[in-house]
Amino acid sequence: MARRGQEEAVITERLTPSDIAEAAALLRAGKLVSFGTETVYGLGADACNADAVAAIYAAKGRPSFNPLICHFADAQTAFRYVAATPLAEKLAAKFWPGPLTLVLPRAKDCPVSQLAGAGLPTLAVRVPAHRLAHKLLHEFGGPVAAPSANRSGRMSPTLAAHVLAELDGRIAAVLDSGPCAVGLESTVLDLSGPAPVLLRPGGVSVEALEAEIGPFVRAMENNSAPVSPGMLLSHYAPTLPLRLNAASVAPDEALLAFGPALEEAKLVFQLSERKNLTEAAAHLFEALHVLDAEGTRLGLVRIAVMPIPINGLGLAINDRLTRAAAPRDKKVI
Ligand code: TXA
Ligand code: MG
Repeated sequence: MARRGQEEAVITERLTPSDIAEAAALLRAGKLVSFGTETVYGLGADACNADAVAAIYAAKGRPSFNPLICHFADAQTAFRYVAATPLAEKLAAKFWPGPLTLVLPRAKDCPVSQLAGAGLPTLAVRVPAHRLAHKLLHEFGGPVAAPSANRSGRMSPTLAAHVLAELDGRIAAVLDSGPCAVGLESTVLDLSGPAPVLLRPGGVSVEALEAEIGPFVRAMENNSAPVSPGMLLSHYAPTLPLRLNAASVAPDEALLAFGPALEEAKLVFQLSERKNLTEAAAHLFEALHVLDAEGTRLGLVRIAVMPIPINGLGLAINDRLTRAAAPRDKKVI
Protein backbone atom coordinates (compact mmCIF):
# COMPACT_ATOMS: atom_id res chain seq x y z
CA MET A 1 0.00 0.00 0.00
CA ALA A 2 1.29 3.41 -0.95
CA ARG A 3 0.73 5.00 2.44
CA ARG A 4 2.77 2.32 4.18
CA GLY A 5 5.68 3.49 2.03
CA GLN A 6 6.08 6.68 4.07
CA GLU A 7 6.78 4.68 7.19
CA GLU A 8 9.40 2.64 5.36
CA ALA A 9 12.49 4.18 3.81
CA VAL A 10 11.71 6.48 0.88
CA ILE A 11 13.94 8.68 -1.21
CA THR A 12 13.44 12.25 -0.02
CA GLU A 13 13.48 14.60 -2.99
CA ARG A 14 15.30 17.93 -2.63
CA LEU A 15 13.06 20.48 -4.33
CA THR A 16 14.08 24.01 -5.31
CA PRO A 17 11.91 27.14 -5.71
CA SER A 18 11.21 26.22 -9.36
CA ASP A 19 9.59 22.93 -8.27
CA ILE A 20 6.43 24.38 -6.66
CA ALA A 21 4.12 22.52 -9.05
CA GLU A 22 5.78 19.23 -8.17
CA ALA A 23 5.57 19.98 -4.44
CA ALA A 24 1.83 20.71 -4.79
CA ALA A 25 1.33 17.53 -6.83
CA LEU A 26 3.01 15.48 -4.12
CA LEU A 27 0.70 17.02 -1.50
CA ARG A 28 -2.32 16.21 -3.69
CA ALA A 29 -1.06 12.63 -3.92
CA GLY A 30 -1.13 12.36 -0.14
CA LYS A 31 2.64 12.64 0.31
CA LEU A 32 4.58 14.55 2.96
CA VAL A 33 6.40 17.69 1.81
CA SER A 34 8.45 19.86 4.12
CA PHE A 35 8.47 23.55 3.20
CA GLY A 36 9.93 26.69 4.71
CA THR A 37 7.77 29.39 6.27
CA GLU A 38 8.85 32.66 7.88
CA THR A 39 8.81 30.91 11.29
CA VAL A 40 10.23 27.40 10.92
CA TYR A 41 10.06 24.58 8.35
CA GLY A 42 6.71 22.79 8.34
CA LEU A 43 6.00 19.14 7.52
CA GLY A 44 3.03 19.51 5.21
CA ALA A 45 0.26 17.15 4.16
CA ASP A 46 -3.21 17.53 2.66
CA ALA A 47 -5.23 18.30 5.81
CA CYS A 48 -8.37 16.72 4.34
CA ASN A 49 -6.62 13.40 3.69
CA ALA A 50 -6.60 11.42 6.94
CA ASP A 51 -4.01 8.92 5.67
CA ALA A 52 -1.63 11.74 4.74
CA VAL A 53 -2.16 13.38 8.15
CA ALA A 54 -1.53 10.04 9.87
CA ALA A 55 1.76 9.83 7.98
CA ILE A 56 2.81 13.17 9.57
CA TYR A 57 2.32 11.77 13.06
CA ALA A 58 4.20 8.60 12.05
CA ALA A 59 7.15 10.46 10.50
CA LYS A 60 7.46 12.76 13.52
CA GLY A 61 6.74 10.09 16.13
CA ARG A 62 4.20 12.60 17.46
CA PRO A 63 1.64 11.78 20.18
CA SER A 64 -1.60 11.52 18.28
CA PHE A 65 -3.51 13.84 20.60
CA ASN A 66 -1.43 16.83 19.56
CA PRO A 67 -3.39 18.79 16.94
CA LEU A 68 -1.85 20.37 13.83
CA ILE A 69 -2.06 23.87 12.39
CA CYS A 70 -3.74 24.24 8.98
CA HIS A 71 -1.92 26.59 6.60
CA PHE A 72 -3.60 28.66 3.91
CA ALA A 73 -2.58 31.03 1.11
CA ASP A 74 -4.89 33.80 2.38
CA ALA A 75 -7.38 34.70 5.11
CA GLN A 76 -10.37 34.37 2.81
CA THR A 77 -9.59 30.69 2.19
CA ALA A 78 -8.75 30.05 5.85
CA PHE A 79 -12.07 31.45 7.05
CA ARG A 80 -14.00 28.94 4.90
CA TYR A 81 -12.82 26.20 7.26
CA VAL A 82 -13.46 27.85 10.65
CA ALA A 83 -16.16 30.03 12.18
CA ALA A 84 -14.39 33.39 12.19
CA THR A 85 -15.36 36.03 14.73
CA PRO A 86 -15.01 39.81 14.31
CA LEU A 87 -11.95 39.60 16.59
CA ALA A 88 -10.40 36.91 14.36
CA GLU A 89 -11.04 39.05 11.31
CA LYS A 90 -9.47 42.06 12.97
CA LEU A 91 -6.35 40.13 13.95
CA ALA A 92 -6.10 38.49 10.53
CA ALA A 93 -6.29 41.89 8.84
CA LYS A 94 -3.50 43.18 11.06
CA PHE A 95 -1.13 40.18 11.32
CA TRP A 96 -1.73 37.92 8.28
CA PRO A 97 0.25 36.90 6.42
CA GLY A 98 2.49 36.43 9.45
CA PRO A 99 3.48 34.36 12.49
CA LEU A 100 0.07 34.27 14.23
CA THR A 101 -2.07 31.13 14.54
CA LEU A 102 -5.73 31.47 15.50
CA VAL A 103 -7.70 28.65 17.14
CA LEU A 104 -11.39 28.86 16.15
CA PRO A 105 -14.40 26.54 16.08
CA ARG A 106 -14.43 24.33 12.98
CA ALA A 107 -16.89 25.48 10.36
CA LYS A 108 -19.99 23.34 9.84
CA ASP A 109 -19.06 20.52 7.43
CA CYS A 110 -15.36 21.43 7.63
CA PRO A 111 -13.63 18.78 5.49
CA VAL A 112 -10.35 18.82 7.44
CA SER A 113 -9.70 15.34 8.82
CA GLN A 114 -10.54 14.87 12.50
CA LEU A 115 -7.06 13.50 12.99
CA ALA A 116 -5.48 16.82 11.93
CA GLY A 117 -7.40 18.54 14.74
CA ALA A 118 -6.84 15.58 17.08
CA GLY A 119 -10.59 15.24 17.39
CA LEU A 120 -11.06 18.72 18.88
CA PRO A 121 -14.06 20.88 17.93
CA THR A 122 -11.61 23.67 17.08
CA LEU A 123 -9.02 24.16 14.35
CA ALA A 124 -5.79 26.15 14.37
CA VAL A 125 -5.36 28.22 11.20
CA ARG A 126 -2.56 30.39 9.89
CA VAL A 127 -1.44 32.26 6.77
CA PRO A 128 2.36 32.23 6.57
CA ALA A 129 4.35 35.21 5.29
CA HIS A 130 6.82 33.48 3.00
CA ARG A 131 6.83 33.88 -0.76
CA LEU A 132 7.40 30.20 -1.55
CA ALA A 133 5.01 28.93 1.13
CA HIS A 134 2.39 31.27 -0.29
CA LYS A 135 3.00 29.99 -3.83
CA LEU A 136 2.79 26.38 -2.69
CA LEU A 137 -0.39 26.94 -0.66
CA HIS A 138 -1.96 28.90 -3.49
CA GLU A 139 -1.09 26.21 -6.03
CA PHE A 140 -2.43 23.49 -3.69
CA GLY A 141 -5.59 25.46 -3.01
CA GLY A 142 -6.74 23.85 0.26
CA PRO A 143 -5.58 23.50 3.85
CA VAL A 144 -2.11 22.09 4.43
CA ALA A 145 -1.64 20.59 7.89
CA ALA A 146 1.92 21.26 8.98
CA PRO A 147 3.62 20.86 12.32
CA SER A 148 7.24 21.89 12.58
CA ALA A 149 9.33 19.45 10.53
CA ASN A 150 11.26 17.84 13.40
CA ARG A 151 10.97 14.52 15.23
CA SER A 152 8.59 14.96 18.17
CA GLY A 153 10.19 16.67 21.18
CA ARG A 154 13.19 17.88 19.17
CA MET A 155 14.11 21.37 18.02
CA SER A 156 12.25 23.05 15.20
CA PRO A 157 14.17 23.27 11.90
CA THR A 158 15.05 26.64 10.40
CA LEU A 159 17.05 25.28 7.44
CA ALA A 160 16.32 22.53 4.89
CA ALA A 161 19.45 20.78 6.22
CA HIS A 162 17.88 20.55 9.70
CA VAL A 163 14.83 18.86 8.18
CA LEU A 164 16.96 16.36 6.30
CA ALA A 165 19.03 15.58 9.40
CA GLU A 166 15.91 14.22 11.11
CA LEU A 167 13.50 13.21 8.37
CA ASP A 168 15.59 12.16 5.35
CA GLY A 169 14.18 8.86 4.11
CA ARG A 170 10.90 9.36 6.01
CA ILE A 171 9.19 12.03 3.85
CA ALA A 172 8.63 12.48 0.12
CA ALA A 173 10.33 15.86 -0.32
CA VAL A 174 11.77 18.99 1.20
CA LEU A 175 11.34 22.31 -0.60
CA ASP A 176 14.47 24.29 0.14
CA SER A 177 13.13 27.74 0.94
CA GLY A 178 16.30 29.11 2.51
CA PRO A 179 16.69 30.09 6.19
CA CYS A 180 13.55 31.04 8.12
CA ALA A 181 13.53 34.77 8.87
CA VAL A 182 11.65 34.72 12.19
CA GLY A 183 13.15 31.46 13.45
CA LEU A 184 10.51 30.84 16.15
CA GLU A 185 7.12 29.22 15.73
CA SER A 186 3.96 31.27 15.39
CA THR A 187 2.12 32.73 18.35
CA VAL A 188 -0.97 30.57 19.06
CA LEU A 189 -4.03 32.47 20.24
CA ASP A 190 -7.23 30.63 21.14
CA LEU A 191 -10.29 32.61 20.07
CA SER A 192 -12.77 29.75 20.48
CA GLY A 193 -13.90 30.66 24.01
CA PRO A 194 -15.50 33.71 25.59
CA ALA A 195 -12.13 35.53 25.83
CA PRO A 196 -8.83 35.16 23.94
CA VAL A 197 -6.20 32.88 25.53
CA LEU A 198 -2.54 32.82 24.56
CA LEU A 199 -1.58 29.16 24.14
CA ARG A 200 1.98 29.64 22.87
CA PRO A 201 4.12 32.77 22.65
CA GLY A 202 5.79 33.10 19.28
CA GLY A 203 6.70 35.31 16.35
CA VAL A 204 4.05 37.98 17.06
CA SER A 205 4.79 39.48 20.46
CA VAL A 206 2.25 39.70 23.28
CA GLU A 207 2.77 43.47 23.27
CA ALA A 208 1.80 43.71 19.58
CA LEU A 209 -1.32 41.60 20.17
CA GLU A 210 -2.32 43.51 23.28
CA ALA A 211 -1.98 46.77 21.40
CA GLU A 212 -4.79 45.47 19.14
CA ILE A 213 -7.10 43.63 21.54
CA GLY A 214 -6.11 44.59 25.10
CA PRO A 215 -4.81 42.24 27.83
CA PHE A 216 -5.57 38.50 27.69
CA VAL A 217 -4.96 35.29 29.63
CA ARG A 218 -1.66 33.46 29.09
CA ALA A 219 -2.24 29.71 29.36
CA MET A 220 1.45 28.82 29.24
CA GLU A 221 2.16 30.44 32.58
CA ASN A 222 0.51 27.42 34.18
CA ASN A 223 2.87 24.67 33.03
CA SER A 224 1.41 21.92 35.22
CA ALA A 225 -1.84 21.85 33.27
CA PRO A 226 -1.14 22.34 29.56
CA VAL A 227 -4.28 23.67 27.89
CA SER A 228 -2.81 23.29 24.45
CA PRO A 229 -1.75 19.68 23.92
CA GLY A 230 1.46 20.91 22.33
CA MET A 231 2.62 22.65 25.47
CA LEU A 232 4.68 19.71 26.71
CA LEU A 233 6.97 20.69 29.54
CA SER A 234 10.08 19.12 28.00
CA HIS A 235 10.08 20.06 24.36
CA TYR A 236 12.30 21.55 21.67
CA ALA A 237 15.13 19.66 23.31
CA PRO A 238 18.71 19.23 22.12
CA THR A 239 20.62 16.15 23.34
CA LEU A 240 22.88 18.14 25.69
CA PRO A 241 21.15 19.52 28.81
CA LEU A 242 20.76 23.27 29.17
CA ARG A 243 21.65 25.54 32.11
CA LEU A 244 19.71 28.80 31.97
CA ASN A 245 20.65 32.30 33.15
CA ALA A 246 24.34 31.42 33.29
CA ALA A 247 26.60 34.15 34.68
CA SER A 248 29.71 32.00 34.15
CA VAL A 249 30.69 29.09 31.94
CA ALA A 250 32.37 25.84 33.09
CA PRO A 251 35.20 24.17 31.10
CA ASP A 252 32.86 21.36 30.02
CA GLU A 253 30.10 23.69 28.81
CA ALA A 254 29.22 25.23 25.46
CA LEU A 255 27.89 28.78 25.59
CA LEU A 256 24.76 30.27 24.08
CA ALA A 257 25.64 33.94 24.23
CA PHE A 258 23.37 37.00 24.23
CA GLY A 259 25.41 40.16 24.34
CA PRO A 260 29.20 40.11 24.76
CA ALA A 261 30.19 36.44 25.32
CA LEU A 262 31.71 35.16 28.57
CA GLU A 263 35.38 34.90 27.74
CA GLU A 264 36.19 31.47 29.18
CA ALA A 265 33.88 29.60 26.78
CA LYS A 266 35.41 26.97 24.43
CA LEU A 267 32.48 26.87 22.09
CA VAL A 268 30.21 29.88 21.62
CA PHE A 269 27.17 30.61 19.51
CA GLN A 270 26.37 34.30 19.57
CA LEU A 271 22.59 34.91 19.36
CA SER A 272 22.96 38.67 19.21
CA GLU A 273 26.05 40.59 20.22
CA ARG A 274 23.99 43.82 20.28
CA LYS A 275 21.21 42.18 22.34
CA ASN A 276 18.62 42.42 19.62
CA LEU A 277 15.74 40.02 20.37
CA THR A 278 14.58 39.70 16.76
CA GLU A 279 18.07 38.71 15.66
CA ALA A 280 18.29 36.27 18.61
CA ALA A 281 14.95 34.63 17.75
CA ALA A 282 15.99 34.14 14.15
CA HIS A 283 19.07 32.16 15.21
CA LEU A 284 17.79 30.35 18.31
CA PHE A 285 17.12 26.89 16.88
CA GLU A 286 20.14 27.05 14.58
CA ALA A 287 22.22 27.86 17.69
CA LEU A 288 20.86 24.89 19.62
CA HIS A 289 21.48 22.60 16.63
CA VAL A 290 25.07 23.81 16.24
CA LEU A 291 25.98 23.79 19.96
CA ASP A 292 24.43 20.36 20.41
CA ALA A 293 26.33 18.79 17.49
CA GLU A 294 29.67 20.59 17.99
CA GLY A 295 29.50 20.40 21.78
CA THR A 296 28.92 16.64 21.66
CA ARG A 297 31.80 16.26 19.18
CA LEU A 298 34.11 18.22 21.54
CA GLY A 299 33.07 16.15 24.56
CA LEU A 300 31.20 19.01 26.27
CA VAL A 301 28.38 17.98 28.58
CA ARG A 302 26.04 20.98 28.82
CA ILE A 303 24.95 24.20 27.16
CA ALA A 304 25.12 27.28 29.38
CA VAL A 305 22.66 29.98 28.32
CA MET A 306 23.21 33.64 29.15
CA PRO A 307 20.16 35.55 30.48
CA ILE A 308 17.72 36.88 27.89
CA PRO A 309 15.08 39.47 28.86
CA ILE A 310 11.42 38.45 28.64
CA ASN A 311 10.02 41.47 26.82
CA GLY A 312 8.90 41.32 23.15
CA LEU A 313 10.17 38.18 21.38
CA GLY A 314 12.18 37.42 24.54
CA LEU A 315 9.05 35.82 26.04
CA ALA A 316 8.90 33.22 23.25
CA ILE A 317 12.69 32.71 23.32
CA ASN A 318 12.61 32.05 27.07
CA ASP A 319 9.58 29.78 26.69
CA ARG A 320 11.47 27.58 24.17
CA LEU A 321 14.63 27.60 26.29
CA THR A 322 12.74 26.66 29.47
CA ARG A 323 11.17 23.72 27.66
CA ALA A 324 14.50 22.68 26.19
CA ALA A 325 15.98 22.82 29.72
CA ALA A 326 13.14 20.92 31.43
CA PRO A 327 14.11 17.56 32.95
CA ARG A 328 13.53 14.87 30.32
CA ASP A 329 11.74 12.60 32.83
CA LYS A 330 9.06 15.27 33.22
CA LYS A 331 8.01 14.82 29.62
CA VAL A 332 4.22 14.85 29.63
CA ILE A 333 3.42 12.47 26.76
O1 TXA B 1 5.16 28.54 13.15
C1 TXA B 1 4.44 27.54 13.28
O2 TXA B 1 3.37 27.57 13.90
C2 TXA B 1 4.95 26.23 12.66
C3 TXA B 1 4.97 26.42 11.14
C4 TXA B 1 5.31 25.16 10.40
O3 TXA B 1 3.74 26.94 10.71
N1 TXA B 1 4.11 25.13 13.03
C5 TXA B 1 4.14 24.62 14.28
O4 TXA B 1 3.29 23.56 14.46
O5 TXA B 1 4.84 25.05 15.18
P1 TXA B 1 3.37 22.59 15.69
O6 TXA B 1 2.48 21.46 15.33
O7 TXA B 1 4.76 22.25 16.03
O8 TXA B 1 2.68 23.39 16.85
C6 TXA B 1 1.29 23.66 16.84
C7 TXA B 1 0.82 24.10 18.18
C8 TXA B 1 0.87 22.98 19.20
O9 TXA B 1 1.25 23.51 20.45
C9 TXA B 1 -0.58 22.48 19.21
O10 TXA B 1 -0.94 21.83 20.41
C10 TXA B 1 -1.32 23.79 19.03
O11 TXA B 1 -0.55 24.52 18.10
N2 TXA B 1 -2.64 23.57 18.44
C11 TXA B 1 -2.95 23.16 17.19
N3 TXA B 1 -4.27 23.03 17.02
C12 TXA B 1 -4.84 23.39 18.19
C13 TXA B 1 -6.19 23.46 18.66
N4 TXA B 1 -7.22 23.14 17.87
N5 TXA B 1 -6.38 23.85 19.94
C14 TXA B 1 -5.34 24.18 20.75
N6 TXA B 1 -4.04 24.12 20.36
C15 TXA B 1 -3.80 23.73 19.12
MG1 MG C 1 6.73 21.79 16.90
